[in-house]
Amino acid sequence: MNELIKKLTEAYGPSGFEDGMRDLIRPEIEPYVDEISVDAMGNLIAVKKGDGSGLKVMLAAHMDEIGVMVSHVTKEGFLRFTNIGGVYPHTLMGGRVQFANGTIGVVHSDRLTDRGKIHPLNKFFIDVGATSREDCPVGVGDAAGFVRPFIAQGSRLTAKSMDDRIGCVVAIEAMKKLASTPHDVYCVFSVQEEVGTRGAMVSANGISPDVGIALDVTGVGDVPEARPMDVSLGKGAAIKVKDAGMIAHVGLVKVMKQRAEEANIPYQLEVLEGGSTDARSIQISNAGSAAGCISIPCRYVHSPSETVDARDVEASINLLVEILSKPIAL
Ligand code: CO
Ligand code: ZN
Repeated sequence: MNELIKKLTEAYGPSGFEDGMRDLIRPEIEPYVDEISVDAMGNLIAVKKGDGSGLKVMLAAHMDEIGVMVSHVTKEGFLRFTNIGGVYPHTLMGGRVQFANGTIGVVHSDRLTDRGKIHPLNKFFIDVGATSREDCPVGVGDAAGFVRPFIAQGSRLTAKSMDDRIGCVVAIEAMKKLASTPHDVYCVFSVQEEVGTRGAMVSANGISPDVGIALDVTGVGDVPEARPMDVSLGKGAAIKVKDAGMIAHVGLVKVMKQRAEEANIPYQLEVLEGGSTDARSIQISNAGSAAGCISIPCRYVHSPSETVDARDVEASINLLVEILSKPIAL
């Protein structure tokens, strides 16, 4: 599985520029589903048919990642940029980004007069080695993702874009393992989550699922001076109860807990004070659906070194398989 995680996390795919990601994921999922399609926004929808006795279940794991977009090129060839999604200035200094054409840039900021303070994003720039606008290999409107190699140390896995390529891995591995299901399972690899769960919104409107389950990362409370939160790395799949954008369907949360307990899958309950996921969009699509989320606990979310635990990834896959392989009584 680490090979797949490495392949997906190291790949390029900021929000709105997910074509390459879709090309990577499609062959991984295609052998395990009955139908596959791409909608107008670029969401990849892989369908596994049920036996007709179950519900319409939509899964969503987002393919996109946070990144930056060039807004201006100076006459000396430096790039000013805007954020794509939740990019924090303090994660940028000295980092590297990669553009679709392979160009690598170093990120730095204007001179700091007070080293204890960081500049806002508009005082940062990217250096791609150009000396003028004319010899700059990228320009206004080009998007870049962060660059950082995947590493595995024991069960701890670190990479950029674990959010949410690890959710994509959970979806792929679960579909591999799912022998049969009563449900029509619509496994959506969504676009543009990081800019407001936009891809999942249109997918859910098109599919009109009875049940929606997002697969995404969540924050943790187990690092120094963290905001208190009862989710830790290595303690199992997190079943979302609430985040800033959604209250999970109570019946679905109950089903998730039950399946975890029956199968002895370690789980924790997630109450996340900030942030949300594709589940929010699925919940309020059309006339609404019963939505929830299986979260993979993750340290340093939206930094270039997002860290998860392989045991939680396994637990999330197993929990999803348990849920999908049995009837869902809400
Ligand atoms: Co995110
Ligand atoms: Zn995410």
